[in-house]
Amino acid sequence: MEVKTVLVCGGAGEVGEGIVHQLLAAGNRVVVQSRTEAKLAELRQRLGASSELKTIVGDVGTESAASALKAAIFEEGFELDAVVASIGSWWSGPALVDLDVKTYQQVMDDRLTVHFIVAKTFLPILADRPGSSYVFIHGSSGFYPIAHSGPVSIAGAAQVMLKDVFAKEMESKPVRINLLSMMSAIGTRSHPSADPEGLTADDVGQYVAYLVSERSSERGETIKYSSRRQLRDLNLS
Ligand SMILES: NC(=O)c1ccc[n+]([C@@H]2O[C@H](COP(=O)([O-])OP(=O)(O)OC[C@H]3O[C@@H](n4cnc5c(N)ncnc54)[C@H](OP(=O)(O)O)[C@@H]3O)[C@@H](O)[C@H]2O)c1
Repeated sequence: MEVKTVLVCGGAGEVGEGIVHQLLAAGNRVVVQSRTEAKLAELRQRLGASSELKTIVGDVGTESAASALKAAIFEEGFELDAVVASIGSWWSGPALVDLDVKTYQQVMDDRLTVHFIVAKTFLPILADRPGSSYVFIHGSSGFYPIAHSGPVSIAGAAQVMLKDVFAKEMESKPVRINLLSMMSAIGTRSHPSADPEGLTADDVGQYVAYLVSERSSERGETIKYSSRRQLRDLNLS
């Protein structure tokens, strides 16, 4: 199996950890970005020592910070084959009519603009690389209006079109750009699912490992992931 070098932005997060775990389990080299060294240290401790796991402190919230991260990754000698953006913490608050513009803009920045910045920073280095891919991580709130989490739903809906436009603009390039949307709550280290059939962060990770692999031919897809059966249908074994 081919070894890919995969950057996971937000890889120290709840879902990100399962993605990192399964990318490593599938034999990939994984570079994990977080703004906080303490979160990376905890991740390394939980996942155990691996020569294929590299963690790097950096921000992706501004263009200059994301460019600095890209430069730091180059300096470490990594040539990326894939990027996974598992970014965007949950938010709830006032109904839209009571929501101040500053908070609205902040949530939109944290859940949408940051995806734009990561994609515009890293897609140029993936675009012409054979076998490369980019995966946006996403949730069902972009398809259903969630009261009191309005900007989360609005940003989620726009994130689908963000992926569509990047994919359209790069349709002649080798890079495959897809969006994986979790259609339910995900069982994670802090919030394990009570439902044995419920998807976990590791299930998300297995799907991502498939999408970045050479076995996947998906491009420009919005994949609604709601059942482990979908993974089995991909013939992962
Ligand atoms: N958890 C679920 O049940 C669930 C369900 C469906 C979909 N999802 C999707 O999964 C993705 C990750 O969610 P999660 O539950 O793993 O959330 P999480 O634990 O809060 O992790 C989110 C990650 O996003 C990064 N991040 C947040 N805001 C940022 C910003 N402004 N600039 C840079 N990085 C930022 C954080 O990085 P730092 O390490 O730097 O703090 C963090 O690691 C989201 O797209 C979410 O919609 C989650």
